[in-house]
Amino acid sequence: MDTRIAARPGSGRDEHPRSVRSREWTDVSTRNLLTDTPELYERRFPDPGRLAARWTDAILRRHRAGPRVLDVGCGTGRDAAWLQAHAAREVVGIDTSAAMVRHARAHHPGPDYRLADMRDFDLGRVFDAVVCLDSALLYCHENADLAAFLDRCREHLVPGGLFVAELRNGAYFLQGAEGARPEPEPRTDTVVRAGVTYTSRTTLWVDHTAQLLRRRREWTSDDGVPPRVQHSAWRLLFPRELGYFLDVAGFDVLDLHDRPGPRTDPPWTEGAPPAATGHGDRLHVVARRR
Ligand SMILES: C[S@@+](CC[C@H](N)C(=O)[O-])C[C@H]1O[C@@H](n2cnc3c(N)ncnc32)[C@H](O)[C@@H]1O
Repeated sequence: MDTRIAARPGSGRDEHPRSVRSREWTDVSTRNLLTDTPELYERRFPDPGRLAARWTDAILRRHRAGPRVLDVGCGTGRDAAWLQAHAAREVVGIDTSAAMVRHARAHHPGPDYRLADMRDFDLGRVFDAVVCLDSALLYCHENADLAAFLDRCREHLVPGGLFVAELRNGAYFLQGAEGARPEPEPRTDTVVRAGVTYTSRTTLWVDHTAQLLRRRREWTSDDGVPPRVQHSAWRLLFPRELGYFLDVAGFDVLDLHDRPGPRTDPPWTEGAPPAATGHGDRLHVVARRR
């Protein structure tokens, strides 16, 4: 199996300044129990009707995108595989998690899955559309990360190619006081996999200075493994800020709205038009490469 990360030579990620706060909250990782255990991820976030993939395909059809699709941060591969099998698309999926890429190849075959980082990938080919679902884009914590990601997308798109992303909405979370908790109490969830019950206790915290939604998650399980505490974070972007990044990167924004989408309440249904609002907890963006 190819375990190399497809990267451009000389990409200087270490140059990016990092905001420094309390160590416990800033020592974040994109690796966690869910990305390391893709079966658990799919159980924790089930999408049996493949709504995310159907929503994506509806947008690609509406904007008459060609068949070549790159799914960035493809995770378990369930959306990439659906787009390839049911929407006649030819899909490449990239992700930094070796466990996710392995799982995708084994359980959602069809697309070409590669281990690659969204901030410096070079696949040596172009696509008709780049899609980035369920906030994967928000792992670009720094402005330079986001600019680098959009630069990579532009390089990998044909002129007129589409960029489609679905993510948490910074405008929803960046209200209230510094350190405000979007959910006042820690949330507890339970998921069972292979006879083991996993319980997670999740605390979210808004870090206005870094414009990050920080998450502390404590996992306990009944298999004798000691409790684990894991931290991660998502960049919080205002709609117009995201639009600005896209414009500077050479994209025209076609749609930027909060609902409906595959993870809104109520969720998107086929034919539902985009709202003209931007205050809900999710953002959906469609842009075209100039
Ligand atoms: C919330 S999951 C979303 C997965 C999938 N798009 C979905 O909707 O089910 C985010 C994914 O982004 C991946 N990821 C995080 N940082 C990344 C990076 N720098 N480059 C590529 N993938 C990354 C994670 O490994 C994870 O699989």
